[in-house]
Order: sequence, then structure tokens, then C-alpha cells
Amino acid sequence: MHNIKQQDLIKTSSFINGSWLKSQHSSIAFDVVNPANLLCLTKVHDAQATDAENAIEAASRSFPTWTKLTAYQRADHLVAWAKLISQHEDDLARLLTLEQGKPLSEALAEIRYGISYLHWFSEEGKRIYGDTIPALSPQQRILVTKQAVGVATAITPWNFPNAMLLRKAAAALAAGCTFVVKPASETPLSALALAYLAEQADLPQGSFNVVVGTDAKAIGEVLTKHPKVNKFSFTGSTETGKKLIAQCAEGVKKVSMELGGNAPFIVFDSADIDQAITGLISNKFRNAGQTCVCANRIYVQQNILDTFTKKLTQSLTTLKTGNGFDQTTNISPLISSKAVDKVRHLVNNAQQQGATIEFQGDLHFDNKTGNKSDCFYPATLLSGVSQQMEIAKTEIFGPVISLISFNNEDELIEQANATDAGLAAYFYSQNINQIWRVSEALQYGMVGINESALSNAAAPFGGVKGSGNGREGSHYGLDDYLEIKYLCFGGID
Ligand code: SIN
Repeated sequence: MHNIKQQDLIKTSSFINGSWLKSQHSSIAFDVVNPANLLCLTKVHDAQATDAENAIEAASRSFPTWTKLTAYQRADHLVAWAKLISQHEDDLARLLTLEQGKPLSEALAEIRYGISYLHWFSEEGKRIYGDTIPALSPQQRILVTKQAVGVATAITPWNFPNAMLLRKAAAALAAGCTFVVKPASETPLSALALAYLAEQADLPQGSFNVVVGTDAKAIGEVLTKHPKVNKFSFTGSTETGKKLIAQCAEGVKKVSMELGGNAPFIVFDSADIDQAITGLISNKFRNAGQTCVCANRIYVQQNILDTFTKKLTQSLTTLKTGNGFDQTTNISPLISSKAVDKVRHLVNNAQQQGATIEFQGDLHFDNKTGNKSDCFYPATLLSGVSQQMEIAKTEIFGPVISLISFNNEDELIEQANATDAGLAAYFYSQNINQIWRVSEALQYGMVGINESALSNAAAPFGGVKGSGNGREGSHYGLDDYLEIKYLCFGGID
């Protein structure tokens, strides 16, 4: 595969119990496709449900040893892994761009973001503190300790194939759990490269397993229902998340879910408009609009709408759509032509309902770089969008800005909260009273105030309502991988 210096990073089968899966059915394989040119990068062995079962058994066997290590020993393993990932960051970024499409600079930022979770949790694992509680009688002593839940399983998404995996794995392993992950089948290579580096870093056999396969339903059933699984974590759509929660409910498994968003991005008339536009562009076009925390509904106060629209249009003219390896590319391809069809449908539907395309960029196709793909969609600005339109109710997952105007704060809050989602929200205002009121009124797990970049390993990432439960990153991120145990000592003289 071109561009990758250390070819050993390219792995094409699952990593289970410290070994690379050798299948009896080697004919079962699926294509990994570069969305920028639709060429097949490689074939990957298609793991089956039984492989997922084997991975869970391996993680279960590995658990007693891994969990008995001290937090310091586990941290040493995680740091060794992080160092190797860091040493190979250029290759890993290239691999990510090849299979996912995002601009190389964003891919590199993602690799570093993923590493930051390993460093963060390697330290946080040393701070899993308990409590002592005053007893009811002089003969008693009450202690609270925290223990790893056991085997943790996860399904991770294609939009951040490195960082979302490491965000979960680092927390699980630091807490003393062993881990099995099924990465999205669109982007298995980043996950397998991480497994290769985990192997090089000598992570104990069975502590970290990667199962790559296209039968998401069958593998998902195993990861959520196997009796030896204690905790399951998912990042993906709300629709799929609900099904997985139901599957976990059968075995009363601990779950944490990072599900879809429908982020309002609000610009009040007191805002610094230039700051808001800069924030909107970097947030909206990151990964071509394919993030759960992307601004989805852009509310602009009526009296600044014209100025805002003119300035925004001007800024959009500078954006270039193209191959992620082209250094001038701002907007990379979407993950598939199906994803483009969805975005096109939302835009057409909004137009039919009365919205106007204020701006649409060129695709800048360049035959020399082989950008012959139907996965590209240009930056698009829609005005006159209303709350009732499908585009305002749907997570767009593409480079489209929908402008909705509003008159006053009360009306705005009602509209911003009128969604099942509750992941991220953003607002721009220079009025301190308004900043407090709106921060408290928005029903979201994360709120950016004059800021559109929330990602940070030290901060709690997660949502409310249909956007899921649990938090990833921060010291709260360990809670989902730990059980609280109450110890009551009696008969003390
Ligand atoms: C996501 O979109 O799922 C994650 C984005 C982030 O962590 O920044």
C-alpha cells in the first residue's frame, strides 16, 4: 500500500489472544476502499461471531492477571504503547487518510488525540480512590473500594477510527479491565495497526483484542450478550445504540453510549461575528462534517443575519474540496456514496420546502490525483431553513450549513432543545448574564461558549437524552469501567 513506510503496520486479520487470526476459511474477506478514489486498498479477513466469542474467552482468561497488576504497572504498558504509536504517527495518519479520507493534517491530529487518552488514563488509573464512611456502631468500619468490572467490549465508529478506539481502550485497560473491540468495517486498518503496536509494546496476551468483520449484527450480539462480558460501550448512531442497549439489558450489562447529535450553534446579536464564523467553519468542516459534535442547526439572531450570511459566504469561497493527501484540501470525501446521497437528499428536500442555496463550492476534481469518486460533496450554505424541515431534525453528517433565524432568547432556547439529541451545543455571546442563562438552559452534555472545539482527554465527553449515557475521557471516564464495592468490617474491639 503506497505511502506507508513501515509496511508491518498493515494487518489484514483480527488480533485475538495475542495472535493474528489464521482462518480455516481464508476465502472470506472484504475490501477496504479508499473513499477518495474508490480503489481497493487491501482485503481484510472477515471475522465471524465465533471469532468474537474466542476473543471474549481470551479477554476473560487474561483478566485475573491484568487486573492484579498495580495501576503503575498497567500505566507502564499504556505508556509503552503510546510511545510506539507516537513513533509511527506519520504512517498511522497516512493509513487513516487512505481508509477514511480525512485531510492528512486532521488524521495526524487524530492520532495525537488518541495518544492523549493513553497518557491521560495511564495517570488517572493511579487515582482510583475509595472512601471511608463513618459507621453506625463503634465496632464497625466502613470502606468503599473500586474494582474493574471485568471484560469490556466495544464497537467503534469509522469517523475517528483511531481516537474513539483508544478513548475506550485506554480507560478500560487503566481501570484493570481487559478489552475486545469491533471497529467499523469501513476502517479496520487503523484499529489493526494499533493492535500491531500493542503487540510490539508487549501488552499481555488476551488483554487487548480486535475483531474485524462485516457481520455487525452477529458480532454485535456476541459483544453485548456473551455471559463473560461485563461492560459494553458503543459510539455510533442513536438507532443502533438503542438496539444494542436492549441486547445488553438481557444480561444486565453495564453500558455507555456515545450516540448521535444534532448540535445547535447559536449566534446572538452581542457575539463577535468574526469569532463565531471562524469557530463555525473549523467545527462544521472537520472531517467533512462527519463528527457527532458537528454544528447541525445554525441559529442566527435576525438583526445580524444579513451581515453574518455575507461574511460567512465570503469565508466559504476559500475552502477547497479534494483528496485528503492534497495539502490544500479543507473538505475531504465522505465515507461512501450512500453518505453523499443522504446529504444530497436533505439539501434537495430543504430547497423544496423553501430553503435557498446561498453558496455551494466547486468539487475541484483533479484527474491527475485520481479523485474519481462519487464520495465528494462540496461546502454548501442554506438559508431560510426552518425548525420543521427534515434537515433540521436529522444529523446531516456532511459539509452543509443550515441557517435558521430567531428573534429572542426564549424562542431560541425552546427551538435549540426541541430534539431528542443532547450531545453538544455551541453559542456565541458577549453578554455575561446571557452566557450563564443559556449555558444552564441548554439540555446538552457539552456546551461550547465562544468556543467550537471541545475535544480534550481531560474533559468529560458525552451526551444526555437520545445522545447516550456515560462519559469518556476525564476522571469520570473511568467510572464506567469500575464497580463500587462496600466493605463493612464488624466486631472491632
Ligand atoms: C465524534 O464525533 O464522535 C467524536 C469527536 C471528538 O471526540 O472530537
